[in-house]
Amino acid sequence: MGSNNPITTPSSPVVAGVDPSFPVDSLPDADSPLLILTTPTPAERIRTSRLTYPMWGFALAEADYLAREAYLTTVPQARDGGLTHWILTVASLPPDGRPILSSCESLRKRAVYTTTAAATTTAAAGRNEEGEVVVVDGVAHGIASVFTEAAFRGKGYASRMMKEVGGILRGWQAAGWGAEKEGAVVEKGHSLFSVLYSDIGKKFYARHGWAPFESCHVSFKPVEGGGGAEGSRDQGQVARAIGYHELAELCAVDEKLLRADLARRGGGRTHVALLPELDALLWHLMREDYMTKSIFGRTPTIRGAVAGEPGKRVWAVWMRGYYGGLKKMEGNTLHVLRVVVEDPEQPDEELVDGFRSIVQLAQAEAAEWKTQDVQMWNPAPKLKGLVEKCGIEFEFVDREKDSIASLMWYGEEPTAELDWVANEKYAWC
Ligand SMILES: CC(C)(COP(=O)(O)OP(=O)(O)OC[C@H]1O[C@@H](n2cnc3c(N)ncnc32)[C@H](O)[C@@H]1OP(=O)(O)O)[C@@H](O)C(=O)NCCC(=O)NCCS
Repeated sequence: MGSNNPITTPSSPVVAGVDPSFPVDSLPDADSPLLILTTPTPAERIRTSRLTYPMWGFALAEADYLAREAYLTTVPQARDGGLTHWILTVASLPPDGRPILSSCESLRKRAVYTTTAAATTTAAAGRNEEGEVVVVDGVAHGIASVFTEAAFRGKGYASRMMKEVGGILRGWQAAGWGAEKEGAVVEKGHSLFSVLYSDIGKKFYARHGWAPFESCHVSFKPVEGGGGAEGSRDQGQVARAIGYHELAELCAVDEKLLRADLARRGGGRTHVALLPELDALLWHLMREDYMTKSIFGRTPTIRGAVAGEPGKRVWAVWMRGYYGGLKKMEGNTLHVLRVVVEDPEQPDEELVDGFRSIVQLAQAEAAEWKTQDVQMWNPAPKLKGLVEKCGIEFEFVDREKDSIASLMWYGEEPTAELDWVANEKYAWC
């Protein structure tokens, strides 16, 4: 068991592999006031990465994994302080001379929620008609890399850290995001919510306030060459590859459509969404660049596919994720980050050829880049219809343990009553 007495740096190492190391039995209990949540020093960050390497870095050599973690502080969303590292440690001990009892990261993201004008206490007051649905901008945080090193597990340290993190993120970097958009209604007082993707089932994080939300996906098999685009009735419905340069326009359209969709959903429930903006996609794609460069010595040019003419398009953006690299291919997945049907009123019959062609291109890319699966998370009803009609073999997977999308709401409603819109892979971190 731990202790609540003030402790000092030990003279002799006791916990193997930890430097500096601390006798586990002399550490404060998880509920002790002697513990604090704080940010690590650069050396402590490296120490944490070394500890997480066997768990999350397997696809890379250790040096490449450490370099990746540093690189991931410089990419869109994470740069300029968007990424915060957190550790639970002993308050009285000096930086670089204290145990890291548990660690995680948070990534600042743009988000929106809906409310009705009467309830709006922000800049909208007096501008919107009573009862009108208002889309409010604000900050959300994605939490990732929750980790306790083996010697410290089972003592409640991760639980204590999550309790502290959940609370601190409510006020973290919350002020004024989104205010630069003309006419925006902005929640400035607090963050809107935080999300995480549990790989340890639904109970642990739910206990600490992150309620599990829909966590299923459609899975397609990789196919060498993708099976071509047979079945496409006209050339306009054959998917065209999307590269980096097309993303800015597509994301801008997507965001506009999503805001309109939210506003249409009515005021009966609070609808929330992370914005599928360019930076949110770039975070994934630049991570993918790092991984593919390390594993294959090159980066992909095809980041998604689009079919149809402007106003009537359907598109998907994807990212290849590698956990085992080429040594252990099972976890390698082509993740569809986001799928957009530009005109949801358009009949499935007009969309399905283009959609099929997009899936075929994804299957071809998945095979070429040595992934074992193509996953499309939480497809909306319109998309489910296209999946069923497109004629490509698929499996519908309801996840119980991995990547459980979980959300803590910082507003007044119970989290479980929220409608999380566009709960797709792009929101993951
Ligand atoms: C998950 C982890 C962070 C928990 O850290 P911890 O400090 O031991 O956590 P606590 O002592 O506060 O709580 C322990 C509880 O965590 C939960 N838990 C831990 N590992 C779990 C797993 N693989 N599956 C389900 N629940 C798990 C259990 O509820 C456990 O309670 P129990 O000991 O009564 O069974 C730690 O085991 C770890 O770092 N694992 C490897 C990395 C990882 O999987 N991180 C989570 C990513 S979402």
